[in-house]
Parts: sequence; structure tokens; C-alpha cells
Amino acid sequence: MALEDLLPLLSEEAFGAGAARLLSGNHALYEQVETRLEELYGRPALVFNSGYLANLGIISALCGRHDAIFADKLVHASIIDGARLSGARLFRFPHQDYEALERLLAKKRPSFRRALIVTESVFSMDGDKVDLKMLLTLKERYGAFLFLDEAHAVGVLGERGLGLAEEEGLGEKVDLLLGTCGKALGSYGAFVVVSKRVLKDYLVNKARSFVFTTALPPVVLAATSLALKLVPGMRGERRHLRELSSFLRQELSLPPGDTPIVPVIVGEAEKALSLSRRLRERGFYVPAIRPPTVPENTARIRISLTALHTRQDLAPLIKEIKGFLSENS
Ligand SMILES: Cc1ncc(COP(=O)(O)O)c(C=O)c1O
Repeated sequence: MALEDLLPLLSEEAFGAGAARLLSGNHALYEQVETRLEELYGRPALVFNSGYLANLGIISALCGRHDAIFADKLVHASIIDGARLSGARLFRFPHQDYEALERLLAKKRPSFRRALIVTESVFSMDGDKVDLKMLLTLKERYGAFLFLDEAHAVGVLGERGLGLAEEEGLGEKVDLLLGTCGKALGSYGAFVVVSKRVLKDYLVNKARSFVFTTALPPVVLAATSLALKLVPGMRGERRHLRELSSFLRQELSLPPGDTPIVPVIVGEAEKALSLSRRLRERGFYVPAIRPPTVPENTARIRISLTALHTRQDLAPLIKEIKGFLSENS
């Protein structure tokens, strides 16, 4: 996206919103972006300044000290920070272990007023997808709300790139769905799609990270608006990305999958750094991810594919990784 693509969408005040949305910062482009999101998702949508701020504000607005939050062990730090800020009791379950989640819900849920299950749909450091059907069953069975963070799924999964819930045809059943605009959409900011308008109105008034911050610069909203026009139609790019991900995983003998995040777990932090350095020298920027971002002894390199990559691009990368792994096994 180039600046000249955005100019037709902007009036003269392109860069500084000047104030919070509830004061004078509510630029007309907000209306445009939220209306477009509502058309796409068929539900009310609210834009936040970032995914971090959205998670912080939404979770702390919805839950309080009489409530319980159930979160996958590997969820993003912003979810944990939101849960801590809320004052609710936070229960973590082992990554994607739905039996453990059910045991926790059965034991703990009755003692709390509200329960919120919160998870990512595609995990940021592992690239695996949640079992959404199972989460919805548990949510119904134990009278909980489900908050799905689709930061790594928006743009890349689903017929129109709306995320995993769209891919599985279950969007209507998720209570709150978070998307970020800074990843596949190529802009900045975030949005939440909610089941009822009253929930949107509640967040507008109660989510402190929404109320007490300067609104996004109009130029950012223009970029998001353009992305929301283009991305739903990029089906060919999404197909290519899925195929590329499956191919790369197969070549590296990794568990099957089709999301753009492909981690190669090597164990020790030093090993991940050394592989990342070696790839950098060969022209590949593949960062090492180490504790505390990931659990001890699961340091890794994380490959992030885009629709612009090709199998030819990947051939030398695969060769280098295989070489390193066989020398260091
Ligand atoms: C799962 C997840 N949620 C939320 C965020 C935060 O989003 P943002 O970068 O827009 O603050 C990130 C990463 O940035 C993420 O990986």
C-alpha cells in the first residue's frame, strides 16, 4: 500500500486525530471502517488503537473480581495483562488441552458470576489452530462467553479472509472476535466484532483503553479502509499461502498445517539464535523466538510466510535449515 493510494480517502487532516474518539477525534473514516466491518462480519464492530489496547480494555471492561477467566497457556501477553487488570480469577489450561479446560470449568465455574474463555484462533508462536467447535461446546455447556483473538487469522483464513471462525462457518456463535490491522491487513490498529449492539455500546463507555487515548491518525484508518476493500477478494493469494505453508511443513517434516506461521523448534535459545544468524547470512530474515516469549527448551525460529513468497524462494531456506538440523542433531 503506497501513500498515494490513500490520498483520495483523506481530507487535509491526515496525521493527527487531535483527541480521543469520544471528544473530537472521531474522524469520518472510523464510521467507514466500522460500517465495512459490520457488512463483512454481519455484526457490530468497534475499532481500537491496537490489539494490545483492545485486549487490555475489553477483558478488563467485561470481567471483574466476581468473574473467572480461562485462558490457554500460550495466549498473547495482552490477554494476560487484560485478565490481570480486570481483577478476575485467571485460570490457565495447558495448550489446546480441552479436557483440562473442561475439568477446570467443571470445578471452578460454579463459584463465579461470569466466565470468559479466551484464546487465540491461530497461535502466534506455533501457528496451530484451535478446535473452535470444541470451545463452543464447552462455552455452551458451562455458560461462559468465548473471546477469540484472531490476530493471526484475519486476512489469511476464511473465504473472505475474516478468520478461523469464518473458515469454519461458526462466526455467529463466537461472542467476541478480535482482529488486528497491523498484520495481514498491512495497516495498524485493531477491531472487535461483538454479538450484540449493547455490547459495543458498553465497550465504548467502559473500555478504558478506548476512552482515554487519542484516536488513530486518519491516514491509518484510510489504510485499514483500503485493506478491507481489497483483502476479502484476495482468494488466490490465500490459496497460494495455504499451499505454500503445507509444502514447507512437509519439506521440513513438521506436523501438517496451513497457516502462515511455521515454527521450527530447536530447543535451546543459543541454538535458535545460531540458526537465525546463519539464515540471516544467507539472506533470510527468520527471527529466533526464545523464553520468556515461548516456554523453556522450546526456543525456535519462526518463519512467517506471505503470499508473495514462492516455492523457489523457499528451496534454499529449506536446504539451510535441514543442513543446520542434521549438523546439530
Ligand atoms: C495474538 C495476538 N493478539 C494481540 C496482539 C497485539 O496486537 P497489536 O500488535 O495490534 O497491539 C498480538 C501481536 O501483536 C498477537 O499476536
